[in-house]
Amino acid sequence: MSLPLVVAITGATGVIYGVELLRALKELGQETHLILSEAAGMNFAIETDYSLEEVRALADVVYPNKDIGAAVASGSFRTRGMIVAPCTVKTLSAIANSFTYNLVVRAADVTLKERRPLVLMVRETPLHKGHLELMTRAADCGATILPPMPAFYHRPESIMDIVHQSIGKALDQVGIEHNLFRRWSGRDRGAAAPEAPASERGAGTRSGSRDALRVATG
Ligand SMILES: Cc1cc2nc3c(=O)[nH]c(=O)nc-3n(C[C@H](O)[C@H](O)[C@H](O)COP(=O)(O)O)c2cc1C
Repeated sequence: MSLPLVVAITGATGVIYGVELLRALKELGQETHLILSEAAGMNFAIETDYSLEEVRALADVVYPNKDIGAAVASGSFRTRGMIVAPCTVKTLSAIANSFTYNLVVRAADVTLKERRPLVLMVRETPLHKGHLELMTRAADCGATILPPMPAFYHRPESIMDIVHQSIGKALDQVGIEHNLFRRWSGRDRGAAAPEAPASERGAGTRSGSRDALRVATG
């Protein structure tokens, strides 16, 4: 029997990453234990049409963020790891400093001390040195820093394609098999993309580069 995966959603922009992660895990039959920060609750209303009830319904178990006596607050409760999607700088900072003032941070700290995979999808830009130092500190303690940075080699056609690629990279880190995006095999180089004229090479993807140039030059 597979152990549960802890999922936390915090108040960075991109709470849709957390929703899509929960949806993917549900489809894969992976048990999930969810913690939502208070700020995440606000961002659902700002950024999506999901009600909190709908988000909670995607998980098998939901804990209030204030419940520091919940099962996931103890290392004796076994899990296969934890993903924070998205992760604010505030939560990153608390995790990096073991400042376990809520259940999201306590569960993350427990995940680290038990040497289980902890994936932080940190979202902020631009980053000052303090942010970078916090990431280094969390990484030194064993966390994987996995900012939701889009890739384009899988030829995304929608925002969901981009979201799913980042979610898939997070699932890779906790060893969960999935089919969320087309992986780079090294074999299909240029198969889908006839070479652009020399005048346009180096500017990006085929039509995308032309469109981008058009926008840039008016
Ligand atoms: C619309 C919106 C977008 C935000 N985006 C980010 C973000 O990308 N990264 C971040 O660190 N904080 C962001 N914040 C600020 C956090 O929500 C705020 O620092 C909050 O206190 C974090 O609490 P939490 O870590 O418990 O969720 C955003 C806030 C709002 C309202």
